[in-house]
Amino acid sequence: MSDYPHLLSPLTIGSIEVRNRVLVSAHVPGFADNHLPGKRYIAYQCERAAGGVGLQITGGTPVHKSGLLSNNKDSLHNLNDDIVPGYRKLAQAVHAEGGRILAQLAHSGGTTLINEPELESWAPSPVRSEITGGIAHEMSVAEIAEVVDAFGSGAERVAKGELDGVEILAAFGFLPQAFMSPLTNLRKDNYGGSVDNRLRFLLEVLEVVRYGIGPDRILGVRIAGDEFNPKGNSLDDMKVIAQKIDASGLVNYLNVIAYHSIDHTGRAKHWAPTPTPHGVFVELAAAIRSVVNVPVFAVGRITNPDHAECILAAGQADMVGMTRAHISDPNIVAKIKRDAAKEIRPCVGANTCIANRYIGKPIRCMHSPAVATPGTTLIPAKDPRRVVVVGAGPAGLEAARVAAECRHKVTLYEANDETGGQLALWAKAPSMSELGGIVAWRMNELNRLGVDMHFSQRFMKEAAYDLDIDVLVIATGAIAHCEFVGDGSVVVVSPHAVLRGEVSDLQSAIVWSDGRGQAGLAAAEILLHNGVNVEIVTSDIAVAADLDPTNRTAWYQRLGKLKCRLTAPFVVENTKNGTVTLRNVYTEERFERESIDLIVDWRGCRSNDELIKEFDSAVFEIFKIGDCVAPRNVQIAMSEAMSIGIRI
Ligand SMILES: Cc1cc2nc3c(=O)[nH]c(=O)nc-3n(C[C@H](O)[C@H](O)[C@H](O)COP(=O)(O)O)c2cc1C
Ligand code: SF4
Repeated sequence: MSDYPHLLSPLTIGSIEVRNRVLVSAHVPGFADNHLPGKRYIAYQCERAAGGVGLQITGGTPVHKSGLLSNNKDSLHNLNDDIVPGYRKLAQAVHAEGGRILAQLAHSGGTTLINEPELESWAPSPVRSEITGGIAHEMSVAEIAEVVDAFGSGAERVAKGELDGVEILAAFGFLPQAFMSPLTNLRKDNYGGSVDNRLRFLLEVLEVVRYGIGPDRILGVRIAGDEFNPKGNSLDDMKVIAQKIDASGLVNYLNVIAYHSIDHTGRAKHWAPTPTPHGVFVELAAAIRSVVNVPVFAVGRITNPDHAECILAAGQADMVGMTRAHISDPNIVAKIKRDAAKEIRPCVGANTCIANRYIGKPIRCMHSPAVATPGTTLIPAKDPRRVVVVGAGPAGLEAARVAAECRHKVTLYEANDETGGQLALWAKAPSMSELGGIVAWRMNELNRLGVDMHFSQRFMKEAAYDLDIDVLVIATGAIAHCEFVGDGSVVVVSPHAVLRGEVSDLQSAIVWSDGRGQAGLAAAEILLHNGVNVEIVTSDIAVAADLDPTNRTAWYQRLGKLKCRLTAPFVVENTKNGTVTLRNVYTEERFERESIDLIVDWRGCRSNDELIKEFDSAVFEIFKIGDCVAPRNVQIAMSEAMSIGIRI
């Protein structure tokens, strides 16, 4: 018998049977062609269907120009019949793999400001969004009817495009939730006030969508099980709303998430990064499930099939969303079916995927560079070559893995006794330990693939010529660089020294965090956990300004709880007898901080390029990847590693 009897059992949703209980919930990968499902978009969805997913849902797709999600052309639009042929190709591709796919129809309400002429956002009431800082146009009753009609037309296109149905996005502060929530609905007419009035818009939408798709396709609604805001809908309120939606007889399932996107935390926490607990919203799904008859889906950091199986076995949900889990590894179902769960590349909650969407780029995954090129498979080499990889940071490990997957004979050298480079160091911070999974998974894979690994062994140029090498991959990474020089009264170290546990007996520290990424924050967190008073100083406009809002929100909450002081926009100017002078980079104003024991100087790394310089010419082919060429981020280092691994 399978280890996953519940997860792998089929589920009937309305009149359609899906082959298992694994859901890839709605997400916009940013792969659309001019708002339509083109080759890359279809390959992305198809890859997940081929991996065995039961049900998948397109990202939020606007049905009316007053509810666009962004200015980008890389997400789908269902505004006219142009989408129908693409939908049809998408449906056929997913169905050919045995999968099922729904379109998520959406209207962004007041959550997005497009800032283009004649594209104003519409919302129930003129309530200021903390995210955009803007106030949307208050809809008239005629405009409400126009948007309801647009949902109906969108649904008809879904049916013409042969998709399996529709999910209405009534969460994330989008229009249906904006109407349902007292936070964003201040109306005094038939669409505001009582629960029934606030629910009226959604029910009108469901009526026309059901009519548009017909009785046999799936119609589901995504709701927030709790808005976690004292003035918003609580779980008890949402139970009542869920029962009313169920009682309408129009829908086939409810998909339960949380929050409202009116404020910074709500916007960030519905897709929270590590270390948010796995299964963060399962209790909400279970509570909603206890009061309705239709199947209920649970989502939120469910990354492990064993965990998914337990949720189903405990009756907390009927289907389990594993969305980022499938960005990281599209073959989870296929792997558990062939008893290879250990090979699943686990989503570690880095949120590089989401960070890229926030800046309007297609998703990338810190753990899986292949996401950028859906449909690419690793082809075994006809003439396997002897490949030496130097450096076991993320880039070196990934290059070795991909080369070994392509059947080359790979040897890996690492000068230290630890693998994972800087990434492994960050993972030493209490909140970042999950990132260690990126290294652990690769080590597991290298062992499985029989890569010959040598640690604590510096790779020397002379030795290279004694070895029989066809290809040398240099991935020696970067080294933390402390360039601040004070009067010697305050110890100056890199964050890496703090992360390695090389400092102790401190009272007060300043972390000068001008380098990109999370190294400075990780060092600060370790010091705070050790009882040190910490002030983080940056010349940026704010601490962690370079991070995406989900990670920044999580860091601010953690650092705030630990009473960390955040100071911007300042630099450390000098030290004198244990007093540190900070200088405002714009006003030149200066402040002094007395009795400081430690300055953590994080202004980035320098490439460790010694080996590159030594091998300026050689008889074998040489590739240089990652930070040893120029210090950048893990996502870029991994992408370079993957493409080199394939090119070999
Ligand atoms: C890149 C990205 C884009 C997303 N876009 C949408 C969207 O368009 N509509 C939606 O309802 N949820 C969207 N989500 C949220 C996911 O559906 C899901 O609720 C969230 O990622 C939490 O589930 P997970 O922990 O399994 O990833 C998006 C998630 C990601 C990672
Ligand atoms: S970037 Fe991080 S959160 Fe996103 S899918 Fe990859 S591992 Fe998961």
